[in-house]
Amino acid sequence: MNRHTQSATVRVVIAGQAEFATCLEIRTRVFVEEQGVPPELEEDRHDPAATHWLALSADGPVGTARARRLGDAVKAERVAVEAGYRRRGVGRALMEAIEGWARQQGLTCLMLNAQLTALPFYLGLGYQAEGAIFEEAGIPHRALSKSLKAN
Ligand SMILES: CC(C)(COP(=O)(O)OP(=O)(O)OC[C@H]1O[C@@H](n2cnc3c(N)ncnc32)[C@H](O)[C@@H]1OP(=O)(O)O)[C@@H](O)C(=O)NCCC(=O)NCCS
Repeated sequence: MNRHTQSATVRVVIAGQAEFATCLEIRTRVFVEEQGVPPELEEDRHDPAATHWLALSADGPVGTARARRLGDAVKAERVAVEAGYRRRGVGRALMEAIEGWARQQGLTCLMLNAQLTALPFYLGLGYQAEGAIFEEAGIPHRALSKSLKAN
């Protein structure tokens, strides 16, 4: 049974070069237009080498995220769901896709810097907060991680 009362049916795919522009469009709407992150910080030097995901609903693309390998770990970044599609399981589907991809590659830890407003979302997915609050792009964040080792 689906846990979300108004769950969006989404398919999460790895974005190829052709879909990267769509990922950027969603990121721009969410981080630049909605949250006020400077555009020059939003698209960065890590984008070309990162793996990007796109969440596709029946209405089209509704979310995105990217991940980068850092040794035996993976860092998730730019997790963004279109405002009208939040609280319907899209963010969870994106994080599960990244975790599955990381496990397939034998990576043992998923790290991320979470905006404080998104902390309950990540804690609910099994992430643990570490260290003090810090600022990134003018927004308070905390470092989080999750072990991907089988229990
Ligand atoms: C944070 C974000 C990615 C979550 O995506 P989402 O699609 O709304 O999340 P989901 O619907 O998959 O939520 C999964 C669970 O977390 C909970 N949750 C999601 N956002 C939450 C929040 N802000 N506060 C408390 N709980 C939250 C949901 O209720 C759901 O709980 P359930 O499984 O018990 O029903 C989305 O709100 C977003 O894009 N926000 C703006 C950009 C942002 O802040 N990104 C994070 C950068 S670190």
